[in-house]
Amino acid sequence: MSADMDTHSPALTVEGVVAGYGKMTILNGTTAKVRAGAITTVIGPNGAGKSTLFKTIFGLLPVRSGTIKLGERDITNHSPRNILDAGVVYIPQGRNIFPELSVRHNLELGGVALSEQANLSQRIDALMAQFPMLREKADTQASTLSGGQQKLLEVARGMLLDPKLVLIDEPSIGLSPLMVQEVFSILKALRDKGVTILLIEQNAKMALQMSDYGLVLEQGQTRIEDAAPSILADARIAQLFLGGGLAPAASASGSLTGILA
Ligand SMILES: Nc1ncnc2c1ncn2[C@@H]1O[C@H](COP(=O)(O)OP(=O)(O)O)[C@@H](O)[C@H]1O
Ligand SMILES: [Mg+2]
Repeated sequence: MSADMDTHSPALTVEGVVAGYGKMTILNGTTAKVRAGAITTVIGPNGAGKSTLFKTIFGLLPVRSGTIKLGERDITNHSPRNILDAGVVYIPQGRNIFPELSVRHNLELGGVALSEQANLSQRIDALMAQFPMLREKADTQASTLSGGQQKLLEVARGMLLDPKLVLIDEPSIGLSPLMVQEVFSILKALRDKGVTILLIEQNAKMALQMSDYGLVLEQGQTRIEDAAPSILADARIAQLFLGGGLAPAASASGSLTGILA
């Protein structure tokens, strides 16, 4: 990353955000400056509030205090529909396809939010040219796809909307190493086209190795925001996670202590 990145306004700015569920406060003044056209990986122990941060950015949870800006535009407490229209695609953790529908039908439904419906079939054709697997499986019931193929379908469906920012929560869970690489290479290709990617990953080392920036979240607060290589080399990381009340690395898949130590 060149130093002049600093002068660019961030694609997404999270400032002092407080949010939670009912009486529980999960995000405790979270901050983030997410660089445009870069991949930023959010890491942190289980329960740190990573998924909550994404839900809050996407308008699924009310912001109790603080602000969220997309570029210069304030999207604090806007509806998910508005935030989607502003160019944000959110791909939650787990399976988010319609399993009983065909691959093509899944893509068509993903395009429902498009303003120019007329172009939908052309856009789907273009996606299928880019992802031959989707063309091969176009008329297949989506439930028959492998976990990795389903995740690719979700990413492709999101791409139909020409997002500026993609929020993707733990895409690699349950995927074979090969599919993880494939999903990551698609994210890199998107980044290379100028799309901003904010990613949550438990496999911190692998994710940071392919990221431009990293953000360490602990107990709903941002502890570190830095270039990914610096975070990988940061001795504080292990300490942070040891202080996060995690079980020893061997027993918890969510533990980063063993991975980064
Ligand atoms: N829908 C919910 N209702 C109540 N509490 C929740 C809900 N979702 C998550 N939480 C709690 O919020 C905290 C943060 O969760 P989450 O954002 O999913 O963490 P992470 O993604 O970093 O593992 C956890 O203590 C979790 O139990
Ligand atoms: Mg989570």
